[in-house]
Amino acid sequence: MLKEKIENLIRRAVEELQDQKKISKTNLPKIKIEHPREKNHGDYATNIAMVISKQTNKSPLKIGEGLKSQILKLKPDLFEKIEVVPPGFVNFFLSEKTLIRQLKRATKEEYGSSKIGKGKKVIVDYSSPNIAKPFGIGHLRSTIIGQALYNIYRFLGYKTIGDNHLGDWGSQFGKLIAAIKKWKKGKTDLSIEQLEKLYIKFHKEAEKNPHLVEEGRIWFRKLEEGDREARRIWRACIKISLREFKKIYKLLGVKIDQTLGESFYEVFLPQIIKEVKSKGFAKKSQGALIFEYPKNQLPPAMLLKSDGATTYFTRDLATIRYRLKRYKPCLIIYEVGAEQKLHFRQLFRAVEMLGWLKSKRTKLIHVAHGLYRTKTGKFSTRKGGTVHLEEVLNEAVLRAKKIIENSKETLREKEKIARIVGIGAVKYNDLSERPSKDIVFDWEKILNLKGNSGPYLQYTCVRCQSVLKKAKTKMDLRKLKIVPLNEEEKDILREIYKFPEIIQESAEEFSPNIICNFIFQLSQKYNLFYDLHPILKVKDPDKKRFRLTLTLATEKIVRTGLNLLGISIPKRM
Ligand code: ARG
Repeated sequence: MLKEKIENLIRRAVEELQDQKKISKTNLPKIKIEHPREKNHGDYATNIAMVISKQTNKSPLKIGEGLKSQILKLKPDLFEKIEVVPPGFVNFFLSEKTLIRQLKRATKEEYGSSKIGKGKKVIVDYSSPNIAKPFGIGHLRSTIIGQALYNIYRFLGYKTIGDNHLGDWGSQFGKLIAAIKKWKKGKTDLSIEQLEKLYIKFHKEAEKNPHLVEEGRIWFRKLEEGDREARRIWRACIKISLREFKKIYKLLGVKIDQTLGESFYEVFLPQIIKEVKSKGFAKKSQGALIFEYPKNQLPPAMLLKSDGATTYFTRDLATIRYRLKRYKPCLIIYEVGAEQKLHFRQLFRAVEMLGWLKSKRTKLIHVAHGLYRTKTGKFSTRKGGTVHLEEVLNEAVLRAKKIIENSKETLREKEKIARIVGIGAVKYNDLSERPSKDIVFDWEKILNLKGNSGPYLQYTCVRCQSVLKKAKTKMDLRKLKIVPLNEEEKDILREIYKFPEIIQESAEEFSPNIICNFIFQLSQKYNLFYDLHPILKVKDPDKKRFRLTLTLATEKIVRTGLNLLGISIPKRM
């Protein structure tokens, strides 16, 4: 990567100055370069001269000049120029030769990918909806952010394992079974909406009738003990729910490697409880068993309820234990709502205390996403209920259809395009914000063809493709020459080389929005260029070839970006 290359150059230059005794030997902090905000400060800048100046009492400008001449000696044509400016920044301006070299790379399919993850495994726990409840908008965030992170890590060479941690176990199933027995005579030919209603009814009735609560408890115990009737009803509920979820995944174009679910870990729970007890972290409290943290660093977590029922926490302990042993991952990402922050702090701390992390390098990360809101407040149905995802996605497709109403495509084609544009728009809207932020759900913004939206990026890609198709020439990149660049062309080049960095940064920060912002900026720059300058009508063959290459690279990058985000691109728009 260009960035690393320049960082290494700076390091070598510093060492050279030390060897020449121009500066004294000090322990240098990590050398970091950044992209200056302002264009006239170059492509990269570093403050290292000021850092060294503090340690050596030499003038930062002098150190900067020393570095500059060393670097220019080491790599004379990487840069157009290097400037040292007060109070001591060193600004690097990439040469056209360097920019063109990156441009050539950017025309390749794999541009932006890397092998840094080779031999390492990453588990992404995402989507993870709960059985017997319709797929809510909350799980949409987990599904699409999780899928994007999965794709990004894979692109960087990691072996990725996607795990849908289905909420298919827990005391709520006792309640549900009790409700089905009571009000449906144990019959299970039900829809997911009926299941949800039964569950709500159970809670309402239970307020008046404490007997019911007891019944629910008994049924969960039966379920845990393997009672046949309890298991039959439970299995039926899973089947009904999975049918629904699969429909949604298909609509979203999401595929998750495995769906083990909470119930899978049930058999491991006794062992886990035993280990926690033997290591002295478990304590009886009012009949329940809790996990205690030293000095009350964290509130205790529930291991077993007072009726002996297992908990979400215990199942997550078993899950993590299983994953660590079986896969030896370097990273586990949990893409789950921010309301579970405490749960994951308790979980990760418990794992540390239990000594399960064999390698210090294994990282456990909760990527906590925010809520969906509307401009006026809570995101809910008119009656105040939860919004079901399927309705939102259907509406998105309908609205997209209106946008392309006047296109010359056949009705069937229009359907297809509307689906890709509508769903892509909803996904992009979600991904373009930092996961931790709340999402404002505003149809105008989501489908705005001129703003930072999915359709705008899809449109850019389609536009580039259409230019390339019309050009009809096989592009021979070996013939690519440096031609005098205009401002808009140079601006595009000065984005393109950053793409590999952007991908890595988005992985390190667990933030697909970094990719969104980048491809949006690149698209804006390309579209500005497109509006101001001819491409196909250019007479000079070198210039034409160059402009087509810019178009090709832009298309490839926006496409790769959208692919990583899990957003499809229509053939026409
Ligand atoms: N089913 C849970 C929920 O909807 C999310 C599970 C997330 N994953 C986990 N390992 N806890 O709240």
